[in-house]
Formats: sequence, C-alpha cells, structure tokens
Amino acid sequence: MNRDPRPHHPLVQRLIDARQVTDALFSIVKPEFLYERPIRERHRIVFYIGHLEAFDRNLFDQRLFELPAFDPQLDQLFAFGIDPVDGGFPTDQPGDWPSLQTVREYGLRAREQIDRELRALTDSARVDASEQLLNVAIEHRLMHAETLAYMLHQLPLAQKVTELREPVVTGPGRANGVSSMVRVPAGSATLGMRRDGGRFGWDNEFGELQVDVPAFEIDRYMVTNGAFRAFIDAGGYREPQWWSEQDWAWKEAEGIEHPACWSRRSVNSERNGEDSGEGNGRRDEWTLRTMFDDVPLPLDWPAYVSHAEASAYARWAGKALPTEAQWQRAAQGAPHAGSGNFDFRSWDPRPVDAYPENVSAFGVEGQFGNGWEWTSTLFDGLPGFEPFPFYLGYSANFFDGKHYVLKGGSARTAQCMLRPTFRNWFQPHYQYVYAGFRCVSA
Ligand code: AVJ
Ligand code: FE
Repeated sequence: MNRDPRPHHPLVQRLIDARQVTDALFSIVKPEFLYERPIRERHRIVFYIGHLEAFDRNLFDQRLFELPAFDPQLDQLFAFGIDPVDGGFPTDQPGDWPSLQTVREYGLRAREQIDRELRALTDSARVDASEQLLNVAIEHRLMHAETLAYMLHQLPLAQKVTELREPVVTGPGRANGVSSMVRVPAGSATLGMRRDGGRFGWDNEFGELQVDVPAFEIDRYMVTNGAFRAFIDAGGYREPQWWSEQDWAWKEAEGIEHPACWSRRSVNSERNGEDSGEGNGRRDEWTLRTMFDDVPLPLDWPAYVSHAEASAYARWAGKALPTEAQWQRAAQGAPHAGSGNFDFRSWDPRPVDAYPENVSAFGVEGQFGNGWEWTSTLFDGLPGFEPFPFYLGYSANFFDGKHYVLKGGSARTAQCMLRPTFRNWFQPHYQYVYAGFRCVSA
C-alpha cells in the first residue's frame, strides 16, 4: 500500500501496475495446481512466483540501493529460468520446491524491502539515474506476463479458473477477395537504434543497422487457421520435402501432426449432408484450445505454430518466411499504438483482418499485436553489441544459432514492447508461443 500521499514516479507506478498483472495471472490457477509443469521445457508454475520477485531483488541490490539478503538460497533458486533446446528436460519433482507459503513470504518481503527504498527515491533525481534498471524490471515482469499466459494456456482447463472465458470473435471477412500479397519496393530497412537516442531498449536493440532490401511481396495478413488447415489437408505433415532435415526429425520424434492447440476429430460428414474431403464419408473436424475453452477452429484467426511448422507451410506455398529486415521494412509507417490486439486486451487472437488502421505504408496489416511473427533470421547481436553489465546473458546466451527472431507482438504483449526495435526470440521447435507468421516471395 502506498500510504505516502505523493504520487509515485511514473516508472515506479509502472512497476506496481506490472505486479498487478502478474499477480492476477497466478490467481487463474487453482491453488492446488501451482506445482504443475504445463510445458515440459519450463519450470513448474511455482518457480515463476518466486522468480519475478527474486529477479527484482537481485537486480536492484547494490545497483539501485542496498537490499540486505534475508534468504540468499531463494535469491539463487529463483534467479533464472530455463530454456533447454531439443531435449534435456528438467526432472525435478514438486517436493523439490519450497512450500507456497515460503515462496509467498519471500516475495512479500522482497517487495516490502524494494518498496521502502523506491519510496525514498520518489521525487529524487536518482530515479532518473535509475531509469534503465527500473525499465529492465518492468519489462522483464511484463515479458513474463506473456510467457506465463502461454504457459497457463497449456494447463488443463480443469486446473484453472475459467470465469474469464471470452466470446470468440470472428469476421468481418475483409480478407476474402482482397489481393493476398502486397508489393514492397526495394529500399532500406532500419534495424535497432542508436545508443545515444535516450530511449530505453534491451541490449539486443542497440546498434543501428541500415539494410538494403530488394523488392519483395509479403502477405497482407498473417496466415490464418483456415489457410494452415489446407496445408494439413494436403498432407503437409507427412511430406518430408516441405521440412528441413532437423525440423522433420523433430516432428517425427515428437509425433506432431498439427499445431499444439489444435485437436482433430473424424466425423461422419454425410450425416451433415456435407462433402467428404477424403472420399470415405468422413472428414476432420478441428477444435482450438483457447485460454479458457475449446471452440470450433476459428478459420480467420492467425495460426499459432512453431518456426518449424511455419517454415514447412511457407515452402509448401512456394514462399518463405520474411527475414527480420524484410519484416521491418514491410512495417514502415505502421502505428504501434491505438488499433490492435495487444496490451492484454484479450486472451486470444482476433481475425487477422480485424485491424485495418494497423497498417503499414505499404498496406501490410496487423503486424503489431494479435500474434508474434516468426522470421527466418537467427537471433544475434546488432553491430557493436554489448550486453548489459548487470545481465550479461539476457540475449547473448541465445546467440547460439538455435533461436530465431520474432517481431510484432501478441494480445498478451504490453504496449511498451510494441516498439519497432523490440526483438523476441525462441527456438524453432517450441510450439507454445503466441506466434504465427506471414510469407514472402521475391
Ligand atoms: C525474450 C521472451 C525470449 O522468456 O526467455 C524472461 C524473456 N528472459 N526472463 C524468455 C526473459 C529472462 C525471454 N524472451
Ligand atoms: Fe525471467
């Protein structure tokens, strides 16, 4: 509670607001399931309750102010998450983690300690000097608000509070009959930003790079579930020629036949008087797991898939995923505020053509919000890359040739991270991100 009548410094207020977002997320899990691991590559949910507070404590201590340690073991335990690539999954058991009460008390105490010091900072020039660290804490927490959302997406519906269920929004069908690709003339794209611009960014956003991009065509809208279903119907998941060797090996080993949130049921189509796709009187009926429900697959929503699945679709379509520079060039002139599905406005996607005002100078729609977009660019530093001295591994640990850049943002991406320089990254075989794609051709 802020009993001090003076308003908080805006950055302090944003940290407090971000805490509300993450607190609300944990409350959608029925408490007896907080030790579940909805995604096998990730920690159990309880880890994140501790992590968000330990991260801030570890970050601020000695840098912003002195925060005497009261439980160094938990500071350590909750310091960093995990991201195993192709195997090496964690094997810890629920009993290996401290009790909920211990974790919650740790968090409360950490917040009390931090807040006492932050209040003392209010109105002082020291906040300005601390802007970078505060922004790191705010955006780190908001990124977890998104990664937690897609993690809790995978939690069985019976283990969460589903009162927040939203109606499915489809239509207006503007995408029908519109030329599906947009021409982007040759020109230059700007990646990253200058260090001396006075704006906050993460280490991987610094170093301004101009890239000459030859003319290309790009999908006006993100690839929809309907379009992706056509790839499945055409046998796309059974045809090695569309997949890279590594992606095929992954898909075979995991037995993947469709995107993570899709389920298939074979139904008797004649009963419904419909044409049979297979010629045997049966056809596939697809449902989509949304955050709080199972619904008939909304055909005009962006298809959320892994990089491997996106790349296979693109090859099948005779196209490719955009490079980071192509994506960035296509987005020129697009507003990254206002119209769009981002900043926690909904839990799930909206139709790809729902945001005509979210349009770039070239007529490309919906690049910001409604789903991250995979690029074909491996994540790496821009020229002159320098890690933050207080967080050396934030980006550099993933400059390993195994992570791809994503751009844009999803319904669960905070407004501040829709800035054009923001870069997200994930490994190609990770199906759970709120990420889709669009294709390019020369
Ligand atoms: C930038 C979203 C890829 O979740 O791995 C959170 C953000 N890093 N804590 C991730 C992050 C450390 C990161 N991504
Ligand atoms: Fe983290």
